[in-house]
Amino acid sequence: MGRIVVTGGSGKAGGTVITELLEAGHTILNLDLMPMTHPAVHTLKTDLTDSGQVFNALAGQWSLSEPFPEGLPPRPDAVIHLAGYARNMLVPDNEAYRANTQGTYNIIDAACKLGIPKVILASSTAVYGVSFAQGDVNYPSFPIDEDQDVNPTDTYAIAKLCDERVARGFAARYGTDIYSLRIGHVFGPDEYNGDIFYGYVHEPHQWKVHGWSYTDARDLGGMCEAALRTSGLGYQVFNATNDTITNLMHTEEFLRSHYPETPITRRLEKFEAPLSNAKIKRLLGFQEQHPWRKYFTLWDKKPVAMRADGPVSST
Ligand SMILES: NC(=O)c1ccc[n+]([C@@H]2O[C@H](COP(=O)([O-])OP(=O)(O)OC[C@H]3O[C@@H](n4cnc5c(N)ncnc54)[C@H](O)[C@@H]3O)[C@@H](O)[C@H]2O)c1
Repeated sequence: MGRIVVTGGSGKAGGTVITELLEAGHTILNLDLMPMTHPAVHTLKTDLTDSGQVFNALAGQWSLSEPFPEGLPPRPDAVIHLAGYARNMLVPDNEAYRANTQGTYNIIDAACKLGIPKVILASSTAVYGVSFAQGDVNYPSFPIDEDQDVNPTDTYAIAKLCDERVARGFAARYGTDIYSLRIGHVFGPDEYNGDIFYGYVHEPHQWKVHGWSYTDARDLGGMCEAALRTSGLGYQVFNATNDTITNLMHTEEFLRSHYPETPITRRLEKFEAPLSNAKIKRLLGFQEQHPWRKYFTLWDKKPVAMRADGPVSST
């Protein structure tokens, strides 16, 4: 089992990912600006936008002890980098761009130069350019897979794409395995019966922005674990989504009836997620454990109070 540095472990996705990694037997160090209360995980308050802090944290001790163990601290086996602003409009655009690109650059740069063999990055399905577009934009084709050309126009997604490009360059130069996970909207275990999933099921035409696909936080932990298990793939980008479409229609029937102009480039499985996870299943052996139907209970339609400014969420 490995020694894994997680960044952003104090956040929404990070807490669940860490729980899954601990269950798989890994030792975790969390780098975050905010504390995390888990007895088995030390959080080192680290500002990832400061390269000196990042190098120091990745080369330092894993926990506080008196005295510290003899010898140099062990090198991490991998870094899972989740920290950053998780959408637009949390801070002004220039700050989101600065912090997200600088933090990710610093992690990749330090990991490669310190000889850490694997980095797993939180990218986003927002890079496909629909989630935070200016107005209504269509996907060029279905399924939305990793080969599709990406041309996002919003700051958050542009920064994620810059991060993917930095990762690709460093992986080629240093021979490091760097896997970018394009994560969909993340659902924690208790979130399947809130407004968003209700809307997915009963008002699916509203959810083109999420590509009628989602990411279970526990399964995201499973995807990270699958990425830790498989090595030697160099730079890779994976849609990190769950298996199935988020409404009740067969996928092809839904897409053909709502987007008749958009080409479908291959046969889709009956309920396959339009933001397809076929690649992460094929190359990393990921197997979904938490299909939404297991947790969703709001099968009957009821009037839903949407927010006045429309649905807004992270991707
Ligand atoms: N939540 C989603 O639906 C979603 C969807 C797609 C992609 N993602 C990506 O997944 C990752 C995690 O998302 P989340 O929802 O858990 O976000 P979150 O906001 O809940 O957690 C982010 C964490 O990063 C930390 N952080 C921010 N800036 C930092 C810095 N400079 N140095 C150290 N720590 C810093 C924060 O303190 C926080 O604990 C993000 O990269 C996000 O872009 C999230």
